[in-house]
Amino acid sequence: MALKITVIGTGYLGATHAAAMAELGFEVLGLDVVPEKIEMLTAGRAPMYEPGLEDLLRKHVAGFEGSTGRLRFTSSWEEIGAFGDVHFVCVNTPQKHGEYACDMSYVESAFDSLAPQLGRAALVVGKSTVPVGSAERLARRLTELAPAGGEVELAWNPEFLREGFAVQDTLHPDRIVVGTHSERSEKLLREVYATPIGEGAPFVVTDFPTAELVKTAANSFLATKISFINAMAEVCEAAGGDVVKLAEAIGYDERIGKKFLRAGIGFGGGCLPKDIRAFMARAGELGADQALTFLREVDSINMRRRGHMVELAREAVGSDSSFLGKRVAVLGATFKPDSDDVRDSPALNVAGQIHLQGGQVTVYDPKGMDNARGLFPTLGYAESALEAVRGADVVLHLTEWREFRELDPAELGEAVTRRLILDGRNALDPAVWRGAGWTYRAMGRPRA
Ligand code: UDX
Repeated sequence: MALKITVIGTGYLGATHAAAMAELGFEVLGLDVVPEKIEMLTAGRAPMYEPGLEDLLRKHVAGFEGSTGRLRFTSSWEEIGAFGDVHFVCVNTPQKHGEYACDMSYVESAFDSLAPQLGRAALVVGKSTVPVGSAERLARRLTELAPAGGEVELAWNPEFLREGFAVQDTLHPDRIVVGTHSERSEKLLREVYATPIGEGAPFVVTDFPTAELVKTAANSFLATKISFINAMAEVCEAAGGDVVKLAEAIGYDERIGKKFLRAGIGFGGGCLPKDIRAFMARAGELGADQALTFLREVDSINMRRRGHMVELAREAVGSDSSFLGKRVAVLGATFKPDSDDVRDSPALNVAGQIHLQGGQVTVYDPKGMDNARGLFPTLGYAESALEAVRGADVVLHLTEWREFRELDPAELGEAVTRRLILDGRNALDPAVWRGAGWTYRAMGRPRA
């Protein structure tokens, strides 16, 4: 009989995972403790903007015409326990307030609610990003709390999906990592992931601590790569070099590679910043803090970028102290394009800093407006890029949406007070903007 799968937590990770599991042919039941999310998902709507996700939901959520009906949602733990052979725990682990460590309370409470419902053999699979050592502890807790005791096993299967590509990354992962103690759970997970394995995705089996560490190590490496190129941008600015050319030239070396070498206002989002901090905190607890002190530098290079952008904007509007009386247009609010996520968004952070220093900031983002308004209700918002730049003394390009690359600089030029654009993502074509009479400045690149 085909495996029945449950997915606990229906955020970016869980909603996508649930839909992807249904796409792979399994019967899936998703649970969230937030009733609104369950209502939305049951209605075939995604709780966040993620390309392709709603189509996939509608293809499988029970009740839609022509849907496979394989995907359902509930808020009942009892139903989850009775339904599933394999339970994926996909709740989030945000940064603790006022601390570097990550907040494990959602994971703990998911395990505490699930375990008492497990009256028969089942595999629980942790996907959340957790501090190393958590899986070992959670496995013991499961055995203690589950009525089926030792018949309930735990595996750790970190997730590497990128926002904006979540569906694609989940259906066609570049690797599947499984931390497990038993052949039985390895076999079950090979069954769950038979399709991607068949497509050639490497299946890496390891112990619990390694599986947990793979995720934080991968994100630390990515963060380091971005901060490395941003450090080079600082040096380029001091020396009159061009960081975009530099990145291209070092990227031809296959050992270095071209990806994740785009200098700008740095990384944000719900993962990289909090993951490197939680990793440092955990290493400290383990007595290995020295090994990760470089991540402190990675973090501070990254945070410095936001301040630097504010300084560039201040210089651009010709003020040496405040932004009082200056109109600043901000293109982009989300932490990256193709997402509506504004968590720790460098773009919104820059907009907020300028606003707090007296600037009249108007923000436009293709998908992130509602979330941005929720976080920064006092900023000005416009319904289009053209509206946002009207009367602006300077335009800041802070999230590299395709829509912004396709803007017509001549048309925008008619609306602004001064044709002055600062590219915080090194994503616009300087020749096009300069050709239309704009002063174009980017981070880590020479002034024209
Ligand atoms: C990241 C990891 O990539 C993913 O594997 C993990 O599962 C979750 O965390 P995500 O948070 O979606 O994914 O964002 P990512 O694509 O990694 O980008 C992070 C930030 O870095 C964004 O703010 C992006 O704008 C910035 N970035 C990325 C750069 O500033 N320069 C680059 O060259 C690349």
